[in-house]
Amino acid sequence: MNILENFKDLKIRSKKDSIVVGVLAGGISAEREVSLKTGKKIYNALRKLKYNTMFIDPKNNLIEDLKKIDIAFLALHGRYGEDGTIQGLLELLKIPYTGSGVLASAIVLNKLATKKFLEYEKIKTPPYVGLNFNSEIDINKIKEKVEKFSYPAIVKPNSEGSTIGITIVNNEENLLKAIEIAAKHDNEVIIEKYIKGRELTVSIIGDEPIALPIIEIKPKSGFYDYEAKYTVNMTEYIVPAKIDKKITKEIKGIGIKCHKILGCANLSRVDLIFSENNVPYVLEVNTMPGMTPTSLVPKAAEAAGISFEVLVEILLNNASLKIDG
Ligand SMILES: Nc1ncnc2c1ncn2[C@@H]1O[C@H](COP(=O)(O)OP(=O)(O)O)[C@@H](O)[C@H]1O
Ligand SMILES: [Mg+2]
Repeated sequence: MNILENFKDLKIRSKKDSIVVGVLAGGISAEREVSLKTGKKIYNALRKLKYNTMFIDPKNNLIEDLKKIDIAFLALHGRYGEDGTIQGLLELLKIPYTGSGVLASAIVLNKLATKKFLEYEKIKTPPYVGLNFNSEIDINKIKEKVEKFSYPAIVKPNSEGSTIGITIVNNEENLLKAIEIAAKHDNEVIIEKYIKGRELTVSIIGDEPIALPIIEIKPKSGFYDYEAKYTVNMTEYIVPAKIDKKITKEIKGIGIKCHKILGCANLSRVDLIFSENNVPYVLEVNTMPGMTPTSLVPKAAEAAGISFEVLVEILLNNASLKIDG
């Protein structure tokens, strides 16, 4: 079935002339530059669709600017944007907004919290240990735990995106250095078993969530870091990923399940590694995935016959208040 059939009745179109849409992008997280790129693309698409659109960078006069809009299209990544804080403000101001609500946004930006939800629901995620620098840390215990699931390991800030502050470590000697790097970005750090395998991502959209075609990601350098994510031709994307039908169905099912159990709304992207022994491990979920020219969700949508403009209009159509909407 054509996926577009699910989205043919976009009620927002009839309100086009009477509303102002604010695209919120930029902000103050480490992913500011990526967010500005995402926001610019969305802003241009809305203008092309002839919506009255205003570009808002929350770094500046946020409260004043919010008074001028009727709907917020969120294009913020990372903290103070993707983490429930802006969503909470918009709830208080009664301005409908795109994407997930306060709670789902807050959980999902926190990789440790997300993993606890996944484990509870028996969704596989790599073995890990969490470090919180607000309380005392016994580094020997941490080393023991990492030893248990064995090297290589990967060390990440708990609440960052775009592979910022992430290091792959092959032995104990490099572990402390990697923890230091991650700790520069966050007072919580996560050490995970590094899973060898194929990197996949599945995008979920809609009020009644459906999975878009899965993408396989093949960074030319071998590591899907910041450069590989945002530089043209640094990564090969295979969409739809060449995996057999049964596994495709299973992974799409895992994506939809993650979206639902975490309480995401309208859009999410679930990052996975399909291990060498055929186990799909969920790495993380994103509630405001990138929409830059090299980003994944627009590629998945395109493969399903959904142009960038239509994708943006589908998301705008689903904008709402989530607490008492
Ligand atoms: N446990 C893991 N095993 C293998 N690769 C990983 C693992 N965790 C992260 N990676 C790699 O690092 C990238 C970024 O990690 P991710 O958890 O998705 O954080 P973010 O995208 O928020 O920076 C992934 O896309 C993947 O390439
Ligand atoms: Mg990721």
